[in-house]
Amino acid sequence: MIYVAIMGYGTIGSGVAEILDKNREELKAAAGQEVALKYVLDLRDFPGTPVEDKIIHDFQIIEQDPEVQVVVETMGGLNPAYPFVKACLMAGKHVATSNKALVAAYGTELLQIARERRVNFFFEGSVGGGIPIIRPMYRCLKGEKIREITGILNGTTNFILSKMDKEGTSFEAALKEAQDLGYAERNPEADVEGHDTCRKIAILTSVATGCEVNYEDIYTEGITRITDVDFKYAEKLGASVKLFGSSRIGDGQVHAWVAPVMIGKQHPLYAVSDVFNGIMIKGNMVGDLMFYGSGAGKLQTASAVVADIVEAAQNLDCNVVPSWSNKRLEIADVDTACHRYFVRIAGTIAEKEAAVKDIFGSVEMVCLDQEPEFALLTQVMSEAVFKEKAVAFDRSCQAAGEAGILQMIRAEL
Ligand code: HSE
Repeated sequence: MIYVAIMGYGTIGSGVAEILDKNREELKAAAGQEVALKYVLDLRDFPGTPVEDKIIHDFQIIEQDPEVQVVVETMGGLNPAYPFVKACLMAGKHVATSNKALVAAYGTELLQIARERRVNFFFEGSVGGGIPIIRPMYRCLKGEKIREITGILNGTTNFILSKMDKEGTSFEAALKEAQDLGYAERNPEADVEGHDTCRKIAILTSVATGCEVNYEDIYTEGITRITDVDFKYAEKLGASVKLFGSSRIGDGQVHAWVAPVMIGKQHPLYAVSDVFNGIMIKGNMVGDLMFYGSGAGKLQTASAVVADIVEAAQNLDCNVVPSWSNKRLEIADVDTACHRYFVRIAGTIAEKEAAVKDIFGSVEMVCLDQEPEFALLTQVMSEAVFKEKAVAFDRSCQAAGEAGILQMIRAEL
C-alpha cells in the first residue's frame, strides 16, 4: 500500500482525491499496489465530503509520518508551499506539484534536494494542465536537441482572445465572461499580463536545456492592449491573435519571450481555441511535434498530478526526474529577436504611403472600411531595427502634425 497526503484541498487537490477514489483499480494496477489517501492538509474543514476524516491542520503530521511516501502539493503560491515541499523532500518523501510559481522560483533547488535524497520532485501538472508535456520532454525526447518550444500556455487568455476573434467582443467584455465562467481570477493580472505564461515557458525551457532559467529574464507582454479592431484586421488577413510563450534555442543564443502574436491559418497553433492549450516543440531530428488539450481545470490538471503519483510509486527508491543545473541560462536581449510586425497607422494609405515605403521598405498594406486608419505587415527584422523605424515614422508624422503608429503586434504570417 502506498500512502499519499494532499496539501491544499482546493480545485486541483480535490480533483486528485476524486481520481484516487474513482480510478482506484486502474491506479492499483499501474502502481503495482494500492494507492491510498491518508491525509488532506488544509486550513478549512470539509464536513460531509469524502475526505472529512482525513483532514488535518498540522503539516508536521505529514512530515513525521513514515508511512506517507508521496505528498501532493496543490496549495499554490510560494508560502507555505515552498517550505512544506522542501521539508517533505528532506524527509525522503516524493512530491508531486501543480504549482508553476513554485517550480519556476525554486525548481533548481527542489530538484537538487530530491536527487540527493533519492526521491523525486514531479511537476507534470504545472504546465499545460492535463497535457503530458514535461515527461515526454525528458523521457521521449532524450535524444533530441530541442530547438523551439512555442505554446499557447494559458487557458484564460486563450478564451478571451478566442471570444474577441469569433464574436467581435471587446477585451473587457471577454474578460468579464471568463470571470463569470470561473476561468479568470477576480484579479486576472497573472493571466492577462502574461506572468502565468512566463513561468510556464521558463519551466519548459529549463527542462529542454538542463539549465536554470530565471523567469524575470523573459520579456513578457500580456494581452491587455489587444483590441477588437486588431481582430477586424486579423479576419481580413485570414489570421488570429494568440498569446505565445516561446523559446527559440540556437547553439549560441536562446531567445525566450511572451507576447501576443498574429498567426495565419497555416500555423499549427491557429486551431487551438477557447480554454485549450497547445504546445509545439521542434526537435533537431524529430521535427515538429504538437501537444494539445485542456491546459487547466480540476480533473484535467489532477490527472497529471495522479500520473506523477503513479510514477513515484513505480520508482520509490530512485530518482528519475532529471534535475537542471544551477547554471543560469543566458537569455538573449529581446531586441535581437526577429519577426514580422503588424502595424496599425492613423490616416489613409494615400496620405502615408510615401513615408511608409521610405521608412519600412517593402510592406503589405491592408485597410478596413469606415476606419480612419490602415495597417501594414513588415518584412522580417529585429526588434531593435523595428523600434528605430517606428520612432522615425512617428517623428515624420509628428512633423506633419499627424498621428502615427496606433498598434504593433508581432506576426508569424
Ligand atoms: N490560470 C491558468 C490558465 C490556470 O488560465 O491557464 C492553469 O495554469
